Amino acid sequence: MAVQQTEKVQKIDLRGRDFIEFTDYTAEEIRYLLDLAIEIKGKQKSGVPFQPLKGKTIGLIFEKSSTRTRVSFEVGMFQLGGHALFLSKNDIQLGRGETTHDTAKVLSRYLDGIMIRTFGHHNVIELAEHADVPVINGLSDAAHPCQVLADFQTVLEHKGKLEGLKMAYVGDGNNMAHSLMLGAAKMGMHVAVATPKGYEPDSAVVEQARAIAQESGSEVLVTYSAQDAVKDADIVYTDVWASMGFEEEQKIREQAFAAYQVDEELMKGAKPDYMFLHCLPAHRGEEVSAGVIDGPNSLIFDQAENRLHAQKALMAALMSE
Ligand code: CP
Ligand code: NVA
Repeated sequence: MAVQQTEKVQKIDLRGRDFIEFTDYTAEEIRYLLDLAIEIKGKQKSGVPFQPLKGKTIGLIFEKSSTRTRVSFEVGMFQLGGHALFLSKNDIQLGRGETTHDTAKVLSRYLDGIMIRTFGHHNVIELAEHADVPVINGLSDAAHPCQVLADFQTVLEHKGKLEGLKMAYVGDGNNMAHSLMLGAAKMGMHVAVATPKGYEPDSAVVEQARAIAQESGSEVLVTYSAQDAVKDADIVYTDVWASMGFEEEQKIREQAFAAYQVDEELMKGAKPDYMFLHCLPAHRGEEVSAGVIDGPNSLIFDQAENRLHAQKALMAALMSE
C-alpha cells in the first residue's frame, strides 16, 4: 500500500500501536498525527483519494451513546478504503458476560483495529492488553484523547501553533479535563482548569500533567476560580456538567456548577481573540451561554468536523501495513 501513503505516514512509524491516552505518545508523535490530519483534510477537500486501509476492518464497541465518535469513525474508515463495524455492547456477547479477554482474542482474529467507548478506563486497558490489533480509546470515564486530537488540530489551524498558548477549561474535572491537561502539557501549552469543590480532576492525573509540563516548559493550574483560569486564555473549553453515567446527579450538579457557566461576562477576562471550544453535545444555558457557544469566537463545528480528519490520521497511522 506504499503508493497510497503520504510522505508523513512513512516518516514516523506508529503501526500496531494502541491509542489510549496522551501519556503513551511523545510530543513529536502527536505533532506528526496532527500534521497528518491536516494533510488528509486537505486531500479530502481537494478530492485527492487517500485509501491506505483498503481491505481493513475496524470494530467500534460502544457501551455509551455517540453521535460524533460513531459517525466520524465509520465515515473515516470508509473514506480510507476500509470498513467499520458498529458493535453495540448490548448486541455482542460482551454485554452478556463474555470476558473482555475472550472478546479481545476473538475480535483480533477478524479485525485490524478496535475502538472502544466504555465506562471504566480499566476496560480499555484490559482490551488493549489482550488484543493483538491496535486499540483506540473512543472515551472512557477517565479520558477522551480522540476528542483532544481533533481539538489540537483545530487550534493549530486557527492559531498556527500549540506551544506557549494558554488553554482554560472550566467545568467538571472529568474525562475531557484529564485528556486536555495531559495533552496540553505534552504539547507545551499552559493549561488552567477551574472546577467547583468536589469536582476536581483526578489528583494522579494532575500530578502526571505537572510532571509532563515540567519537561515541556509549560504550566498546569488547578483552581476553584473560573476567572483565574480564563485570565488571558487563548482557548476556553467547557463540557457538560453531568457526563454519561452521571445523569442521576444532574440536579445536584446544576447547583454545584451554577457559578461556572462560560458566559460573556467570564469571557471578558480571556484574550480578545480567544477560541471557544466544546467537545459537544452541549447544553446552552448550563455549562455555556448561547451567546458564547453561538458567538463569533466559537469554533465548535470546525472542531466536530476535525474528529473525522484526526481519526483518519490515527487509523491510517496505526492500522496501515
Ligand atoms: N464529542 C463526542 O465524543 O461526541 P459523541 O459523544 O457524540 O461521540
Ligand atoms: N464528558 C462527556 C463527554 C462527551 C463527549 C461525557 O463523558 O459524557
